[in-house]
Amino acid sequence: MVLETIAIALWAMLPAYIPNNAAVIFGGGRPIDGGRTLGGSRLLGDGKTWRGAVAGIAAGAVLAVFLNRIVDSVSNAITVSLPEFSIFAILLLPAGAILGDIGASFLKRRTGRERGAPFPGVDQLDFVVGALLLVAIPAVLGIHDWFFDVFGLGELLAVFIITPVLHVVTNAIAYWIGFKDEPW
Ligand code: CTP
Ligand code: MG
Repeated sequence: MVLETIAIALWAMLPAYIPNNAAVIFGGGRPIDGGRTLGGSRLLGDGKTWRGAVAGIAAGAVLAVFLNRIVDSVSNAITVSLPEFSIFAILLLPAGAILGDIGASFLKRRTGRERGAPFPGVDQLDFVVGALLLVAIPAVLGIHDWFFDVFGLGELLAVFIITPVLHVVTNAIAYWIGFKDEPW
């Protein structure tokens, strides 16, 4: 029961977990804010680039499409009925993850945090909140139910408990390998 909920939650969030890691690997180049400032600080900073955002969304979407191809065999193997990603989910989960990360940088710059400064809690959950909010919009509007079909209270709880742990571990690894400048 609990393991099933965790499996569904993690599976459903995989396309939201990948984008920020892909942005770290493929990012760089022109910053999204074009160097603009607001109240003396950068709007977003040099850490948020167009290439990182596009690569991140593309990586998440490609992963979602791939997961759809293997969902039946994985479901059978673990005897849990894992969800398929709708076209909305394929696009909105990665886009929301990237937007959440961008929103967090906006908040960091407004609160006097330089690029790369840690923002405990926000760093670990910005992309999850962004992804869930974006994919929840069409559900709340009654356009498309994917979010309500997949996420109950249990799945949401699992996401908010497990994601920070995964985030800390993957970023420590990315730092250790040399992909990231800071371990958060
Ligand atoms: N990155 C990017 N484009 C994005 C997100 C990330 O190019 N949209 C790349 C940048 O090279 C960035 C690195 O991934 O430096 C690490 O991402 P992150 O930790 O989110 O950025 P920070 O540099 O720490 O900047 P911030 O303080 O704004 O989070
Ligand atoms: Mg950072």
